[in-house]
Amino acid sequence: MHKKIYIPMLLFLLIAGTLLGISVQATDSELPTQTEEPTEPSSPLKETIVLEGKMINDELYLPVEALNRASELDIQWNQDLNAVVFSTGTEKIIVRQDYLASEPSTVQEIKNPDDLLVLVNKKHSLPADYVPPDLVDPAVPSIKSEGDPSRLLRSQAAEALEEMFAQAKEDGIELYAVSGYRSYQHQEAVFTRVAAARGEEKANLTVAYPGQSEHQTGLAMDVSSPQMNFGLSQSFGHTEEGRWIAKNAPDFGFIIRYQKDNTHITGYSYEPWHLRYVGKEAALAIAEADITLEEYLYDLEFYSKLEQ
Ligand code: DAL
Ligand code: ZN
Repeated sequence: MHKKIYIPMLLFLLIAGTLLGISVQATDSELPTQTEEPTEPSSPLKETIVLEGKMINDELYLPVEALNRASELDIQWNQDLNAVVFSTGTEKIIVRQDYLASEPSTVQEIKNPDDLLVLVNKKHSLPADYVPPDLVDPAVPSIKSEGDPSRLLRSQAAEALEEMFAQAKEDGIELYAVSGYRSYQHQEAVFTRVAAARGEEKANLTVAYPGQSEHQTGLAMDVSSPQMNFGLSQSFGHTEEGRWIAKNAPDFGFIIRYQKDNTHITGYSYEPWHLRYVGKEAALAIAEADITLEEYLYDLEFYSKLEQ
């Protein structure tokens, strides 16, 4: 027998599998709130456990770990958390969608472009006329001439870059800034050039569409070294400078935004040279957990709602 609950309004189907001995179905007007014979938990709830379900064709599948704990079911759909919640008597189990399932299906316009934690990606686009409020020219070696806007970063990011380059120099590491702020129009020109050579789809694995580049926020800087001939290629990750960056950037509030094996989340291939400023707290947490900015922000929002 299967335990099966259908929540059509939300297009969620939860199938609890063969471990459970009963079957419950609900319609729009009859959403499930509890099983037929609700019982008071024998002891107070001790622990909240958060698990990730898998979304397949708009159906949320509970992980086996959740099913194994489901001795007493009181399953509810929590719209605010975007998750299934139930209690075993001693534990509160929350099964949320995995990050990818939570992605919007259309491109959204970014409402907080000035936020240091702003999420810019293929699903979140900046207004074409967005220009960061406090662009400055960081005092670091750059391959760009004085006056070139692509030397610029927002002030906090610029200060952090100066500190990082100073520490690198002390450690015998020679870094150069290659490309920072890019206007919407500049990004459009870069994308058009690369797309003409490689085709749009391939180009978009390494270059963002205008409006979808972190460079437009003034919070991203591409860095390289004399050993790389100041170029941007994946082999930078294996050089002494690239390894120094990977290890030390979070201490200064930067993350390597496009890590290896994360293309299915970030949409871009590995870019060991692309640093994004997010502030120290976020950068250290992201590096420690070895996650993407997308997943970090998803967690941040989820857990802040959970605490409310
Ligand atoms: N290279 C990154 C994805 C950009 O174009 O913003
Ligand atoms: Zn970049």
